[in-house]
Amino acid sequence: MKIMSLVGARPQFIKAAPIHRVVKRFKGACEHTLVHTGQHYDKNMSEVFFEELQLPKPTHNLNVGSAHHAVQTARIMEKLEPVLSSEKPDVLLVYGDTNSTLAGALTAIKCGVPIAHVEAGLRSFNFAMPEEVNRVLTDRISTVLFCPSKTAGKNLYDEGIRDCGADKPLPGRPRVSICGDVMYDHILFLANQIEAETQDQFLLTLHRDFNTDHPDRLKRILMAINDFANQAKMKVVFPIHPRTRKHLAKPESFASLEIIDPLSQREILTEVLKSRVVFTDSGGLQKEAFYLKKPTVILRPETEWTEILQTGAAVLVDDDPDRIQQEAMRYLDIPPMNFSKPYGDGRAAEFIIKQLMADFG
Ligand code: UD1
Repeated sequence: MKIMSLVGARPQFIKAAPIHRVVKRFKGACEHTLVHTGQHYDKNMSEVFFEELQLPKPTHNLNVGSAHHAVQTARIMEKLEPVLSSEKPDVLLVYGDTNSTLAGALTAIKCGVPIAHVEAGLRSFNFAMPEEVNRVLTDRISTVLFCPSKTAGKNLYDEGIRDCGADKPLPGRPRVSICGDVMYDHILFLANQIEAETQDQFLLTLHRDFNTDHPDRLKRILMAINDFANQAKMKVVFPIHPRTRKHLAKPESFASLEIIDPLSQREILTEVLKSRVVFTDSGGLQKEAFYLKKPTVILRPETEWTEILQTGAAVLVDDDPDRIQQEAMRYLDIPPMNFSKPYGDGRAAEFIIKQLMADFG
């Protein structure tokens, strides 16, 4: 059978890696091809990941690049349609919540190609986030939905998206499974390949539009972290996303922030290990820090990964300077101890591929 993965943004390359490793074990029964939308295109946002994750070269690159949301989404749809028509995959795998995810799902359903959504059911309940719109709509038209947690499964259930128990799932009569997080699979795979000798820094990433595109908010957050690090006499490593770099005025005014280019996944995981506390607005890094047993100060008003909050290993602070500093200080004084395993057993990708082979093989 032919499984096609649509990827476009950094976290999707990472999620496709454990899927690809599992498919290789089923060689002969199952073929896996990658289509790259080109949403991320800089070398250090894309190519580096393909090399490090040992992903095969995409069979098609749609080269859509950066654009406003509607244009970016429309360009992907326009260029993906002929690919689906000519390649005729048995299923299109889409990942997460980006514009590439939604564009892939919309195109596939119109071409009659079943959609499988990895990371289905996550919700922030905040429709001001483009990612929330992308997730909700993708889930609504997916045929097979792979949830990373029980909460995600419940979110779908509450929206009326329920497992229909059908022999052959269809859009509107979907299959819904709780299978765990493919990123957890990947961290376990990488665990003995990363190490850090010291733990004497902090790590910061920030790329969400609601943080980067509002100068006052961006400045408030960075100032709070900069002052905190200054007092703690430790530096903050800050691999900067191109969107953030574009919006950051006077980077030299944040003396404790070591602003560097985006890192590969292995490099950033090493920086996580070297850090006492992680500051981030990224969903992916929140989980990676959790899996590596590091506390996280989340620079958002809410998170989709609520189980991490419940363990006490992460806390929401939004853009409140006092809370940013107090919570980081609390983690420095008393590191959290509860790093339970709410996101599966590290075999989510295997579950996904076996399910797809059963449904569409
Ligand atoms: C996208 C996703 C977000 C995900 C993130 C991971 C959407 C709506 N957002 O956000 O959910 O968490 O990817 O990084 O799909 N740019 C470059 N080079 C690149 C990529 C981007 O310079 O290789 C710049 C462009 O100026 C672009 C801006 O970054 O306008 C934003 O890129 P875009 O892909 O639209 O959104 P992200 O912020 O990366």
